[in-house]
Amino acid sequence: MSAPIKAPEGAPFARILATGSYRPSRVVTNDEICQTIDSSDEWIRERSGITERRWAGDDETVATMSAAAAEKALAAAGLASQDVDVIIVATCTHPYQTPSAASEVASMIGVPTAAAVDISAACAGFAYGLSMAQDMIRGGSAGHVLLIGAEKLSAFTDIYDRSTAFIFADGAGAVVVGPSSTPAISPVVWGGDGDQLQAINMTQNWVDFKANGFDIFPTISMNGQQVFRWAVSEMTRVCRESLDTAGVTVEDLDAFIPHQANNRITDALVRALELPDSVAVARDIITTGNTSAASIPLAMDRMLASGEIHQGGNALLVGFGAGLVFASEVVTLP
Ligand code: UT7
Repeated sequence: MSAPIKAPEGAPFARILATGSYRPSRVVTNDEICQTIDSSDEWIRERSGITERRWAGDDETVATMSAAAAEKALAAAGLASQDVDVIIVATCTHPYQTPSAASEVASMIGVPTAAAVDISAACAGFAYGLSMAQDMIRGGSAGHVLLIGAEKLSAFTDIYDRSTAFIFADGAGAVVVGPSSTPAISPVVWGGDGDQLQAINMTQNWVDFKANGFDIFPTISMNGQQVFRWAVSEMTRVCRESLDTAGVTVEDLDAFIPHQANNRITDALVRALELPDSVAVARDIITTGNTSAASIPLAMDRMLASGEIHQGGNALLVGFGAGLVFASEVVTLP
């Protein structure tokens, strides 16, 4: 009989230890957006809640923004980059097919030996990654995981497309996930609807881009109404299931941090879930736009920094987007 293989041994639980963020310096107003689409500041504010957003410059990439956010999260956690075992970057706008943004970040923050991987779950990417990070820590494959949601959506947005030009934006949010002696991240509720694959997609893939003589640069297209309806109806169910799975009710929540897709989606979820007024609701979209995988950690970091929410409180997170895919957890705030 062959020798038994050693089983992995993990920490009993995992928690978010700290957050960090990077917001590009260039502020893009609705009036600037309206220079290339037939729209208005009033329409954009009313239909999405967005008053301005940040777009990255040439020297601000998914990887550089990720590294900047990561360094702040590590400093806030009191950890060195060498303490990181795994780097996960959730993104759909890293411009290289390979190597990954996570590998670039590993090199940039001085921990080239860390395991590094990108995940592609669009606007649900951070919530997907959080569940994966918790499983790594509890499963014994990592001590500390650096989880980053980062996007440079401006690079893949058609500024002449009035259904997307005003909504997407850039930025990066990071968290450090580490061991915990008490539960601080609930079991994930996740899934998708692959039959709605076309609801958010690219106008072209890279192979067709080449085959078609490099004519139409691939950009993100979206059937906004279809996604809006799905988000409001399905995410209400998902949030309820997530609360049940975590064993808490809305009365136990201190914060609701949904993906910052549209302020009206957030409003509809707040109403459907009957959240008490005491629950702080993320509204980062107003000045940040929709930053896909970055939106939840960006919002969490800002709310913690402003004192709107506090360490030890419970927050309901829900990410949803292209796929269509979704993921939700209840977490203890760092
Ligand atoms: O992050 C990943 C997941 N993404 C989302 O969750 C996004 C979900 N969708 C949305 O947030 C919304 O659908 C949008 C903000 C994208 C669009 O808002 P909407 O209220 O769904 O607009 P609509 O497409 O239903 O259009 C309403 C009207 C139409 O005019 P009529 O037919 O009523 O005369 C459109 O032609 O607004 C018009 N319209 C615009 N007007 C000014 C559409 N886009 C624009 C625009 N500016 N940019």
